[in-house]
Amino acid sequence: MKEKIASLAEQTTHWTAEEALALISVPPDTSCGDWSLPCFTLAKKLRKAPKAIAEELAAKFPAPEGFAKTEALNGYWNFYIDKASFVKNILSDIKEKGLEFGFAKQKNKTVAIDYSSPNIGKELAFHHLRSTMLGNSLARIFKASGYKVERINHLGDWGTQFGKLIVMYLRENLPTDEQTLSGLTVKELNKLYAQFSKVSKDEPELEDKAREAFAKLEKGDEFYRKLWTAFREATLKELKRIYKIMGVDFDHYTGESFFETHIPSVVKELQAKGLLVNSQERDVVLLDELSLPPCLIRKSDGSTLYATRDLAAAIYRKKEFNFDKCLYIVDNGQALHFRQVFAVLGKIGCEWNNDCEHIPFGLILHKNEEGKWEKGKTRAGTASLLRDVIEAASEKILAVINEKNPALENKEDIATKIGVGAIVFNDLKNRRLMDVKFDWDAALSFDGATGPYVQNAHVRLCSILRKSNKNALELEFKSEELLDQNSYDLIKALSCKEEKINIACESREPCTLAQYSLELAEAAHRFIHNNRVIGSSEENSRLFLVYCTQQVLESLLELLGIAPIKEM
Ligand code: ARG
Repeated sequence: MKEKIASLAEQTTHWTAEEALALISVPPDTSCGDWSLPCFTLAKKLRKAPKAIAEELAAKFPAPEGFAKTEALNGYWNFYIDKASFVKNILSDIKEKGLEFGFAKQKNKTVAIDYSSPNIGKELAFHHLRSTMLGNSLARIFKASGYKVERINHLGDWGTQFGKLIVMYLRENLPTDEQTLSGLTVKELNKLYAQFSKVSKDEPELEDKAREAFAKLEKGDEFYRKLWTAFREATLKELKRIYKIMGVDFDHYTGESFFETHIPSVVKELQAKGLLVNSQERDVVLLDELSLPPCLIRKSDGSTLYATRDLAAAIYRKKEFNFDKCLYIVDNGQALHFRQVFAVLGKIGCEWNNDCEHIPFGLILHKNEEGKWEKGKTRAGTASLLRDVIEAASEKILAVINEKNPALENKEDIATKIGVGAIVFNDLKNRRLMDVKFDWDAALSFDGATGPYVQNAHVRLCSILRKSNKNALELEFKSEELLDQNSYDLIKALSCKEEKINIACESREPCTLAQYSLELAEAAHRFIHNNRVIGSSEENSRLFLVYCTQQVLESLLELLGIAPIKEM
């Protein structure tokens, strides 16, 4: 409808369509119309009072197509929609497109998204949730916006942490036969890790040993390589188990180790361009002209660094995917690292470095003993590992189900989906740079701005559809039966889906959809509360609206990466 108003505005020759689109707003009070175009910016240009301009326009276009009427009020040109035709358009569109209502056409553009990308060799910590879920949702949002999406897990599977594990493993004299190695678990590795931290306090030379071990691994030592492979496989197995519970997927597991063989050519390129400088026994690229500290490329023992591998990875991605955008969903603490990497890319002539974007986010905060928010461990279940948090959340939800709906089938599975959904929603509901306050009771509540609240709205809609025993797609609806305030408000909310997806995509902010899903859930609850569906004389029309709302809500939950359960 906004487009319709914009093209009308263009006909008046006072605005261009783009100018009008930027000005059109929704009046705070529906009695002033559904949309409104302010005429104040024209006063100077036309040398007339805005009030007079609006009056002239309303008189000239009293009822353009799709609108019941237009009116002037205090310098605003207000548009009143023809409600019945609006209702018919929106609901017919949803009937045709189903879950894909509001999605964009294919754009012939590719976006590569680097997310989750944890350092492995140890277990996923709770804070890994942020990159994982923001990236998962953004991948879905970009796909809905018509992009081809390459989902990349840039695992931290190379680096001194593996030197530490190797040193500790050998020091403990653990068996290195195939069978033992292939049976290793992350728990065991985590223990080794902890042991290393403890022991190296008294024996600081262990740190050097770990660095040496990693250098040996980098030079291709076969036995070390065998250990490394076993450590990597053990962590990857657990990682994939957790991703499955969270409903997270990747197209590529190209971790840092993958780029080992690509690094020599990057270093050569830097040398050829005269960019590599030796400083304090390391090879660096100076970035003084950008007021950035030097980017470290190679240590004195020849081993490479995080940034070197990111340079190789970016070049590889451009070659492999020819991306239009490459997004890095990584915490704000790494902002400098990405500025340096993108700058070095620019220096070696990769003009596409402008298409690389760091998408930063804030921390997860927990309440400490005094009730103050701080970075650190979760209490109340004292969990800091992601799997423990998921388990604790699921258990808490299962207890609620056992109390309220003990006969529910598959209740463990549903409890996990609600528990995970609650944690994810809590993570995505605010702008990403805000720190996330994690409070068990608030996140798991079925009321308020929570995942369970939105899932519950979806469940209610599904249950009405089930009870009706009718095939929703065969229902004939009458627009005139859906013009009461509750129905109409709900339909208006449904109509915003495309716009909200656009905003979420452009701003790289899944919270746009989280907030929208809350508004929709509220409108749905209100509609259900006030309008009897089954057995009413408007049954078919109302039932069809229930179906449309269910489709939009299901799709929104999917875009957020939350399971759209049908029962709870
Ligand atoms: N492994 C890194 C970490 O845990 C994040 C990697 C992000 N991606 C990248 N291409 N640097 O801090």
